[in-house]
Amino acid sequence: MTDTPIRHFLTVDDLQPEELLAVLDLADDLKAERPTPASRASSTWGDVLHGKSVALIFEKPSTRTRVSFEVGVRELGGHPVVLTGQQLQLGRGETVADTARVLSRYVHAIVLRTFGQDRLEDLAEAGDIPIINALSDLTHPCQAVADLQTIREYKGTLAGLKLTYLGDGNNMAHSLLKAGAMTGMHVVIGHPEGYAPNGQIVDEARTLAEFSGGAITVTTDPETACVDADVLYTDVWASMGQESESTERAALFRPYQLNSGAMALARPDAIVMHCLPAHRGEEISAQAIDGDASVVFSQAENRLHAQKALLITLLT
Ligand code: CP
Ligand code: NVA
Repeated sequence: MTDTPIRHFLTVDDLQPEELLAVLDLADDLKAERPTPASRASSTWGDVLHGKSVALIFEKPSTRTRVSFEVGVRELGGHPVVLTGQQLQLGRGETVADTARVLSRYVHAIVLRTFGQDRLEDLAEAGDIPIINALSDLTHPCQAVADLQTIREYKGTLAGLKLTYLGDGNNMAHSLLKAGAMTGMHVVIGHPEGYAPNGQIVDEARTLAEFSGGAITVTTDPETACVDADVLYTDVWASMGQESESTERAALFRPYQLNSGAMALARPDAIVMHCLPAHRGEEISAQAIDGDASVVFSQAENRLHAQKALLITLLT
């Protein structure tokens, strides 16, 4: 057992707004120290996780999250243990709680990508080490932190910006609602009928926005959503686990595509964002994602810096 309280990161607002801004500042410092991969050896932070092991468990596929966490733990001097659910007894029905109790005896933190948010909560409840959410059906907070870092990098600020998310009211929409609300942004969700974000999360985001001077708008009108946006963001129409709904969703979601029409309504200097993986011609046009306004690969890079900042904040 530790003397200091265990810090989990299950949703963006597990950090206080000022802690979130400090994580973004640290992520910027970490990025500045690593202008190229070869420069990482001289990092001020290269030993900060020395002697610490971090279990990275993936119950769903991942490219960015898996690789950026594994590389990030290593660059901080720690030891990553990467596992799929199927490699663990978890995949054969061992409970999340027992897994948490056992792994707490071996490693210093668990990063989990899973289905229900309740699995992360159960892990946090039963273990005595920090738990980090690497995506659930409900939320994707690590992505949202990297997204804030990216927006600040390109726009110089967060407060007062209009961030428009087009598409499914899914895990990504939920975490952007919280992250934007905490940092004084106007977050607009433009979604098809029947695919609204979770009402409780919208209410929580509205409460957070009251404190930050931000605002939340949820609409089914994609054009109103895009007018004067500083940031246009989208995500897949069918998330992991919803593949069987792809055809049905494609027809309904078509008016919500992030394309030149959406960009024409936004501010002339608006940036285009997507957490990736992307489907060109579906939720985003090739012109939008591959055009000059797109920052999607900086977003992907910032996963590494933002997660290193989170690991330092939660584990040291
Ligand atoms: N954006 C994101 O989380 O990507 P992966 O699914 O590849 O980890
Ligand atoms: N909403 C997507 C995000 C992928 C990073 C999914 O859950 O599949």
